[in-house]
Amino acid sequence: MTCTHWPQILYDIDGNLLVKTDQEISEKVIEVVIKQNQTTSSQVLLAQTEIINDIVQRINSGIYKVMFSDKANSERIIAIIREISFAELIIRELENLKIHLPDTYHHILIVAALSIKICLDLNTEDSVPHQIAKIGLVHDIGKSRLPVNIIEKAKPLTQAEFKIIQTHPWIDHLLVSRYLNTTKSFIAKAALCHHERLDGSGYPLGIAEISNSVQTIIPCDIFDALISHRPYRSEPFTIRAALDLLVEESKRGKISKKLVNCMISYSRKDKPHYKDVKVSQINRDDPPKINYYGIREE
Ligand SMILES: [Fe+2]
Ligand SMILES: [Fe+2]
Repeated sequence: MTCTHWPQILYDIDGNLLVKTDQEISEKVIEVVIKQNQTTSSQVLLAQTEIINDIVQRINSGIYKVMFSDKANSERIIAIIREISFAELIIRELENLKIHLPDTYHHILIVAALSIKICLDLNTEDSVPHQIAKIGLVHDIGKSRLPVNIIEKAKPLTQAEFKIIQTHPWIDHLLVSRYLNTTKSFIAKAALCHHERLDGSGYPLGIAEISNSVQTIIPCDIFDALISHRPYRSEPFTIRAALDLLVEESKRGKISKKLVNCMISYSRKDKPHYKDVKVSQINRDDPPKINYYGIREE
């Protein structure tokens, strides 16, 4: 599998050239990039970074205050994040994102926190909260390499622009592989797959087989994208409209129903167990009036 429609020349966080404009990206190309840029990046404990304070702030603001109202549970989530260590170059990517794309940075943090929360609740053997948190924390770092005029476009994207947006999982994969000196790490692979869907309708690979860890990220990713400000719509989705959309996506077989029920449970004051969540059969709220997401300019 290769990635074309590459937007622009790509550098790593140190300014080393990784990929030229229009060069196709494949696992083989990434292997070469890794060989040419061998570095041993030191490990940094997240407890020693600003990321912790930023996550604490994020889970204590807006709707997330309700979703993270269980203080003991939130402290456990923060404790898990504090224990994570990452290659220093990835930490620098996150710091860079905070400066240049703060919305994406804050999105990444809440996706990581929500994913840990689900992981702890489901307690499945093949999902480890520290691993899931790492996927959440890198899943959109490639967006920092996309042209700003496309990311901030307030009108429908052209087909060509949308194809450029769809390259960001490849950029994530390239950057993480470069920083970890391997394409085989679970986070590099997971970053590539975070827009895949269980019915095979996602991108960039169009695969239906998605690991449980990546699946956990998906509803958190969609939910936060819906309830946040975006240039291409008049206002964010309300919580109810966002949950309606998640329910629709699970009915269509694109995302896991169990995980959507977790999200619904967190949004409710009484916090029912996810197995006891009763989902309304009628839509509870309307989406924003103007929303160009998914609409292509001729
Ligand atoms: Fe993404
Ligand atoms: Fe995302």
